[in-house]
Amino acid sequence: MNAPFDLGGVRQGELVYQTGFGNGFETEALPGALPVGRNSPQRCAYGLYAEQLSGSPFTAPRASNERSWLYRIQPSVQHLGRYHRTDARLWRTAPCPQADLAIAPLRWSPVPLPDAPLTLIEGMHTVTTAGDADGRAGMAAHIYLATRGMEDAYFYNADGEMIFLPQHGALRFRTEFGAIDAGPGEAVIMPRGIKFAADLLSGPARGYVCENYGSAFTLPERGPIGANCLANPRDFKTPVARYEDRAAPCTLTVKWGGALWQTELAYSPLDVVAWHGNYAPYKYDLRHFSPVGPLLFDHADPSIFTVLTAPTGTPGTANVDFVIFPDRWAVAENTFRPPWYHMNIMSEFMGLIYGAYDAKPQGFLPGGFSLHNCMLPHGPDTDAFNAASAATLKPHKLEGTMAFMFETYLPQRVTSWAAGLAELQHEYTDCWRGLARRFDPTKP
Ligand SMILES: [Fe+2]
Repeated sequence: MNAPFDLGGVRQGELVYQTGFGNGFETEALPGALPVGRNSPQRCAYGLYAEQLSGSPFTAPRASNERSWLYRIQPSVQHLGRYHRTDARLWRTAPCPQADLAIAPLRWSPVPLPDAPLTLIEGMHTVTTAGDADGRAGMAAHIYLATRGMEDAYFYNADGEMIFLPQHGALRFRTEFGAIDAGPGEAVIMPRGIKFAADLLSGPARGYVCENYGSAFTLPERGPIGANCLANPRDFKTPVARYEDRAAPCTLTVKWGGALWQTELAYSPLDVVAWHGNYAPYKYDLRHFSPVGPLLFDHADPSIFTVLTAPTGTPGTANVDFVIFPDRWAVAENTFRPPWYHMNIMSEFMGLIYGAYDAKPQGFLPGGFSLHNCMLPHGPDTDAFNAASAATLKPHKLEGTMAFMFETYLPQRVTSWAAGLAELQHEYTDCWRGLARRFDPTKP
């Protein structure tokens, strides 16, 4: 890949990023590669082809209209080789049948990294699916287990947008729009249709993925919170243009209609020399999230920790909310401070990137994951309840922790792979067994 042209962005490591959320970004890896004052000149500079990538219908309202213009060495139609269906391995797409499991809250220990050579795509393991990818509703939750880089095996997903959450090991995403590095504590959002390959920066890698079949992730409204806090737009980072001008046999795999399709190419498809627009991959450091919470008493709903939301047409009902539980102070007086007991119309997939989660200090391990599905009760385990009920309520800092949740309005169906894992904690619901009967009608 060429060195980036000096664009005055934010440098992090050896990469440069543009800051902001959903901006009209513009970037060029060669001076003058971007047309000025028009999108589609009769002849583009350097012999490039102009191509539009539409992430929303042309007629979407301005607030949700997403598209970018790419100036590339070869147009994407040159990638239309003869596609053949290739093995999707353990990547599943909704609608996908529910595994033979009794209904219950579910929790898994971390799945170990295998010895087998697996790229990020080959190592995608689906835990749950929800909704219908063709209907643009729902999501899938995956674990990736990657032991080798993708090198010349490029990929794009037509079925959904993806959030990658590294939990172990760092990744470099080489994309059509430039390169993004991310490690544990960061999130990478790869919109639908963007070609990329991922390299391993520090050995084998494990993490979580949300595949969002619905509308694109955006920032939640802040309401009375005002103009600041939660995820601030300036903390989102979008790459600057970098391109590969490389003739080498390579493959392009497309996830389309729940299947993987592969073709052979003679040139790298990451050949975008310049681009502008608001449809691009980006990353966010979850530690930049500015939490807002209860300052006197009670426990607010977890929606106060929403980083990104993918809305449906029903106001307040998300196809997916991406929520985190970062470091924060707990200060509420006369309050049971951990999350309350709960039944929910939404279904909650959770993971732990590092540290401990206050409602489940034992058993919910970094790299592990849990599923609290539609209308299945859950809440603090016995030890957490007893400790929080007796605790002296001084200000207390929850430190060194980063849990997250993918919450969807549709029930999540567990795959047979996840149901058959040795890491499934069959005794999970025992964590509530010890909750004592404390009722005494004579003691108000
Ligand atoms: Fe919940």
